[in-house]
Amino acid sequence: MKKILEKKYRKTLISVILLACVLAAGMGIYTAVYIIKNLKIMAAMVTENYNYAVYPTPDITGKDASQIMRGEYLSKAGDCIACHTNSPEKGKSFAGGLPMPTPFGTIYTPNITPDKETGIGGWTDAQFIRAMRKGISPEGHYYYPAFPYYYFNKITDPDLKAIKAYLDSIPAVTQKNRPNEMMLPFNFRFLQLGWRMLFFRSNNDTGAYQEDPKQSATWNRGAYLVKGLGHCAMCHSPSYTLLLDALPLGAPIKKYDLTGAKIQGYLAPNISKSNLEKVSNEEIINVFTKDELIGGGEVVGPMLEVNHNSLRYLKREDLLAITLYLKTVESQSPPISSSGGPGAGVYEGYCSGCHAQGAGGAPKFGDATAWDPLIKMGKDKLYNVALHGKGGMPAKGSCLSCSVTDIKQAVDYMIAGLQGGGASTAAPTVSHEIPLTPADGKRIYEAKCSICHNDSAANAPTPGDDTEWETIIGAGFYDTFLDVKTGRRGHLPQGGCPQCSDAELKAAVKYMMQQSTKTYNYNLW
Ligand code: HEC
Ligand code: HEC
Ligand code: HEC
Ligand code: HEC
Repeated sequence: MKKILEKKYRKTLISVILLACVLAAGMGIYTAVYIIKNLKIMAAMVTENYNYAVYPTPDITGKDASQIMRGEYLSKAGDCIACHTNSPEKGKSFAGGLPMPTPFGTIYTPNITPDKETGIGGWTDAQFIRAMRKGISPEGHYYYPAFPYYYFNKITDPDLKAIKAYLDSIPAVTQKNRPNEMMLPFNFRFLQLGWRMLFFRSNNDTGAYQEDPKQSATWNRGAYLVKGLGHCAMCHSPSYTLLLDALPLGAPIKKYDLTGAKIQGYLAPNISKSNLEKVSNEEIINVFTKDELIGGGEVVGPMLEVNHNSLRYLKREDLLAITLYLKTVESQSPPISSSGGPGAGVYEGYCSGCHAQGAGGAPKFGDATAWDPLIKMGKDKLYNVALHGKGGMPAKGSCLSCSVTDIKQAVDYMIAGLQGGGASTAAPTVSHEIPLTPADGKRIYEAKCSICHNDSAANAPTPGDDTEWETIIGAGFYDTFLDVKTGRRGHLPQGGCPQCSDAELKAAVKYMMQQSTKTYNYNLW
């Protein structure tokens, strides 16, 4: 009897924990949160009202000045000011109150100035260390992972004490912030236990950073900054997700460390070895100090804020350490969306632009007459063309991050499309689950629009020609999109691409507009 009860109890307990995990996991929507915030900031920047937070001068009288200055430097490396200042409303530095909207309600960041009542002035070092390392408040509550303790737990005790010393010596601001407005049941902080069990407690490398004795001091310094204070993976690593990628859970997938992530149409690029190995150190440092992207273009959006509040304050030797470390991060490439079976994601993302309609002589998906003679030549031949290119067929369909297996699977998927239950002439429409990125916009533009738009003889405005585009951009994005969509002002309806979805047309128009302006950031929409 006891055994049966125990079993029953255990089952219930497991269900409760699982439920808690799922619910609480939904709260780890750090990325979404951060980006929504940055959308606001970008909107403000465009109207020139944006107000960056200002670092306050610490009061060092009678205190250990060098400790405080070290703490100031470290808190800059951690970008604490970005979240703990309500800069869009010109709030006082570190006094919190920044709204971080999430699908489950709004979190208002806390005041971390030394005010005893409304800030953290009454905290002991031990309480501060516990909050930063374990994500637990002095009262024992679990913090939401929008507070990046997942990363900050790597900071060493002496560095945490220095940060505390700095925060203790900045001006105290009495400001009680609005309480969080979280919906039921997400306002129950104990539910965070689920998230923690899934991603934090089960993380075998929690705790202060341990130096790797096989590596140089510079490498270790770089790893410490990137993994801990810099919390770079928060934006640059793919995160675990729920509900068909709709909810990023705010916990990075380790095997894909720093291989890039999409954030609402914004791409925080791959900054691991596979992408940075051949880039000079100087070019990488210029991203941080001069806001120049690798290969050209200006840094915009969330990374611009990271540079402005944080990275540009770092010593050159620290930026160099970060650079050298990034160049050694070896990660697996994340798979491209696999909804629809292996190969489908790559096909939809990289091949369908030409093959769905047979553009430019590409054998059309599902068209047996076009494919039969090719298939007779043998699969290996097809793999070979797909991998190395031929005529109008670019090597790997231009998917540089695709592995050999990815490409072979895409070819298999295309061949399988011929056997697909009779109605094989219908080209599959591009899955709308795949979020469209600036890269998609470029691909669609090149496949469907460049025919006229790259040829001045066709009288179509060429992207990048600023004067021609000034008036178009002045009319606004939505109107311009409608011109193309509905065929107003003499344009071909659907941009001449009847099978393009609205999302695809928008992506192409965004891409064209983005090429033609330095003021606006259409990628954020
Ligand atoms: C990405 C945004 C973000 C960054 C960056 C960030 N924080 Fe926070 N922080 C938060 C949020 C959100 C909370 C509240 C979490 C909650 O209510 O569960 C928080 C809570 C805290 C708390 C607890 C305050 C209290 O009253 O309970 C402390 C202390 C803190 N942060 C310190 C820091 C320090 C120091 C840094 C820089 C090294 C930093 N934070 C960087 C978002 C951030
Ligand atoms: C808030 C999110 C966020 C954080 C945190 C963040 N980044 Fe970024 N980063 C981005 C985005 C978005 C871009 C793309 C910027 C653009 O396209 O203008 C970017 C671009 C970059 C680039 C340029 C890559 C290229 O191909 O040009 C580098 C290098 C980089 N980040 C390094 C870092 C490092 C190192 C850290 C941590 C110290 C970091 N980032 C933290 C969002 C972030
Ligand atoms: C820019 C347009 C374009 C893209 C993108 C593209 N293809 Fe092609 N593809 C072509 C063209 C054109 C041909 C015909 C080449 C020829 O025979 O000269 C072709 C031919 C092929 C063939 C037949 C091989 C043969 O011997 O002719 C395969 C298989 C193929 N592509 C696979 C792919 C895969 C897989 C992708 C995506 C990873 C892809 N293609 C992306 C244009 C494209
Ligand atoms: C057959 C040639 C042709 C194709 C294909 C074509 N365009 Fe155009 N497009 C034009 C011409 C000509 C104009 C300038 C006059 C006008 O608006 O009709 C133009 C204008 C535009 C404008 C400015 C519209 C405005 O409001 O003034 C945009 C944006 C645009 N095209 C987007 C696209 C997109 C996106 C595609 C691909 C999906 C595309 N075009 C395909 C010929 C073309």
